[in-house]
Amino acid sequence: MIRVNNLKKQFGNVPAVRDISFEVQAGEVLGFLGPNGAGKSTTMKMLTGFIKPTSGQIEVCGYDVLREPKKAQHKIGYLPEGAPCYEEMTPRGFLKFIAEIRGFRGAQLTYCVDDVVSKLSLQEVLDQRIETLSKGFKRRVGLAQAILHDPDVLILDEPTDGLDPNQKHHVREMISGLSETKIVIISTHILEEVSAVCSRAIIIADGSVVLDGTPESLESRSRNYQSVVIALQPGQQADLGPELAGLPEVAAVETDSRGRLVVFPAAQDNQLLGAINSLLQEGSWQVEMIYQQQGQLDEVFRTVTGDDSHA
Ligand SMILES: Nc1ncnc2c1ncn2[C@@H]1O[C@H](COP(=O)(O)OP(=O)(O)O)[C@@H](O)[C@H]1O
Ligand SMILES: [Mg+2]
Repeated sequence: MIRVNNLKKQFGNVPAVRDISFEVQAGEVLGFLGPNGAGKSTTMKMLTGFIKPTSGQIEVCGYDVLREPKKAQHKIGYLPEGAPCYEEMTPRGFLKFIAEIRGFRGAQLTYCVDDVVSKLSLQEVLDQRIETLSKGFKRRVGLAQAILHDPDVLILDEPTDGLDPNQKHHVREMISGLSETKIVIISTHILEEVSAVCSRAIIIADGSVVLDGTPESLESRSRNYQSVVIALQPGQQADLGPELAGLPEVAAVETDSRGRLVVFPAAQDNQLLGAINSLLQEGSWQVEMIYQQQGQLDEVFRTVTGDDSHA
């Protein structure tokens, strides 16, 4: 388990992290979501003991990261932003080197290197210099060094950044697999990633936590959450709008950019679709399409991070 209390980091005049507190339990995949410069990487560096906070407490698996950094680091695997590796080494040499630093020797060392090589399918590039590897393979080497000592906590800073869609998918699948037995914290500015891999998300903006919840609970804060989009045959749309607006389950009816009706619910009790269906069945409406929206994480994100420039 991870416990963070009133974490602050000041770089000169720059308050990179203002006052962050949260807890994470085993089995959770926590997403750190936020625009560039929000303080995600700085928070992760403090969690791993890589840099010291200006103030605040961090506890990882029962160890105080400031007082007992080595013991805490034993429990942590860390993939820094950009997954830096020693480019002139081969994956085999690099992973052996990391295993030695982690304290493994002899048969144990061979076993843990072989184990991550097979988990991350690195066999075919084992003896190729890291600088000659594709981005996807480089990222897998980075992930391999992070999980080599089978840590209880994995901290991954933008693990899919810069990868192509296939590589992203592959890395996300690996993260989902790893999360069954570990606490995973990943940072990202890709919203779809949160729904894809995280059980919980913390939105960080300007060094502070602005939202904390499940991906679903964040989506539910979207204005579009549970709204219903209806397209009728041409000519009927104008008549249906006022009828829908008269329903007690309806808060508002608008027309979107494609001329379809968007019906917003009066409450989050999900009675809206049923009420609309009854109304449509009673009249002679020719419905071409009707669907209910889930709510958009990107809209919530822009609202809470204060960036409405693309709204
Ligand atoms: N070593 C540093 N020295 C000075 N400022 C820094 C340093 N590291 C980060 N910052 C600043 O702290 C803020 C947060 O950065 P960072 O944690 O990297 O954000 P994120 O990872 O969310 O993009 C930014 O304004 C950044 O410029
Ligand atoms: Mg960062």
